[in-house]
Amino acid sequence: DWTPDNVIADQVAAIRAQVGDARVVCGLSGGVDSSVAAALVQRAVGDQLTCVFVDHGLLREGEVEQVERDFVAATGVNLVVRDERKRFLNALEGHSDPETKRKIIGREFIRVFEDAARDVVADAGEHGEQVKFLVQGTLYPDVVESGGGEGAANIKSHHNVGGLPDDLKFELVEPLRTLFKDEVRAVGRELGVPEPIVARQPFPGPGLGIRIIGEVTAERLEILRRADAIAREELTRAGLDAEIWQCPVVLLADVRSVGVQGDGRTYGHPIVLRPVSSEDAMTADWTRMPYDVLSAISTRITNEVSEVNRVVLDVTSKPPGTIEWE
Ligand code: XMP
Repeated sequence: DWTPDNVIADQVAAIRAQVGDARVVCGLSGGVDSSVAAALVQRAVGDQLTCVFVDHGLLREGEVEQVERDFVAATGVNLVVRDERKRFLNALEGHSDPETKRKIIGREFIRVFEDAARDVVADAGEHGEQVKFLVQGTLYPDVVESGGGEGAANIKSHHNVGGLPDDLKFELVEPLRTLFKDEVRAVGRELGVPEPIVARQPFPGPGLGIRIIGEVTAERLEILRRADAIAREELTRAGLDAEIWQCPVVLLADVRSVGVQGDGRTYGHPIVLRPVSSEDAMTADWTRMPYDVLSAISTRITNEVSEVNRVVLDVTSKPPGTIEWE
């Protein structure tokens, strides 16, 4: 029988059998998947686990603070935060191909975990011991869409599946690998993960890096971060968070269009709103959102973010579109 309790019991046993008394690191993003994976591993091996939160500079406004505050308060987990903003920006410089960007981000994540694992061992004052295990919140759809499942096509390399380097020094612990999002949420609730985390909308590991269409730069990230914060604020204000699966906000960084503001001509970038409704992210429909909410978002973004002079709505289902633009 599928019940959250059975999944927890099975996975706790499997995790203990896999890692024994070794040290384990977990890449924590603050999202549902990695939070539930971390909580499961903590249930299984307690203090052997250290969570690593990577600030890769591709995060939305307020995310670092939220993880530091809420997740640690709720779980008491050991957390290390690494400021790696420069490293990711440097690695991404000059690249605009989506798969290349995804692979670079996946590779840099792993390098950061390797550094973090070395520091964990050094801090514990242990010699010769290595962190061998890396926990990831990989879900079943991630496996399928990265080409790992049976008969699956390689649609895109999810940062924690297809983006891994060949010389990976860790053995992976992926307790959610057979689950869908709604199942993960049920397991999380059973484990006592707080509701704001369990109910959080999905956000991709590569973050805003795959929502800037074109090269990722510090300036472009700042533009997108401001537009995204406005969209999220207005969606929350309208009470739409639970109704919408997620709403990627995308910057078409290499596109410009002519506009007018006051009595002057503008030549700015478009922002795309991509609100979707979905059960499991394998398929999705565009969300029929109230026009007045769309209007409020559009007005505020074009007023408050001077580099943006146009807001457009993505009305494509999945398939044929994917949820993210890259
Ligand atoms: P797509 O764009 O493939 O997205 O329709 C399906 C769901 O997966 C999320 N997504 C990711 N999540 N790492 C993640 O953790 C990734 O590399 C990644 N790529 C896409 C996306 O936001 C949507 O919920």
